[in-house]
Amino acid sequence: MPEPPRSSSTDRAALYTDLQHSLVALLAGEHDLIANAANLSALVFQSLPDLNWAGWYFLRGDELVLGPFQGKPACVRIGMGRGVCGAAAQQRASLLVPDVHAFPGHIACDAASRSELVVPAVRSDGTLLGVFDLDSPRLARFSPQDQEGIEAAVRALIAATHGN
Ligand code: SME
Repeated sequence: MPEPPRSSSTDRAALYTDLQHSLVALLAGEHDLIANAANLSALVFQSLPDLNWAGWYFLRGDELVLGPFQGKPACVRIGMGRGVCGAAAQQRASLLVPDVHAFPGHIACDAASRSELVVPAVRSDGTLLGVFDLDSPRLARFSPQDQEGIEAAVRALIAATHGN
């Protein structure tokens, strides 16, 4: 019997299950933040369709500074509250932006970006490590399912690095 076609949300669930398994294997026994953040960026960029950027901004003092990423070179420093990344960092809440042109103050590092998902990374002591930023050239590319999957990935990174 042929397998019934899987709905796209089932596909996405399977994709995030696979991603989490790969991530657990990549992070196993490694505590270095830069190494783990770099591998998470690469894994996400390679695994998810329709991305043009995936990477980190770490909190340094009172601003966000570019960390490991995949995609075109990007703005290095983002003030708290500025752009989608700065807003997610300030609110410590994930931001799912279906149309970046409709987001006041969006910072256009790559003119191709049309939608965005930013997930804050909060250490177990409650301090903010930074944000993980995904950009897509497709409008409304990200769903709440993507948000959940990426939040789980960010939690795994925090656990593996002990928030270093
Ligand atoms: N778009 C982001 C800036 C970072 S780049 O997209 C890599 C923002 O508005 O926060």
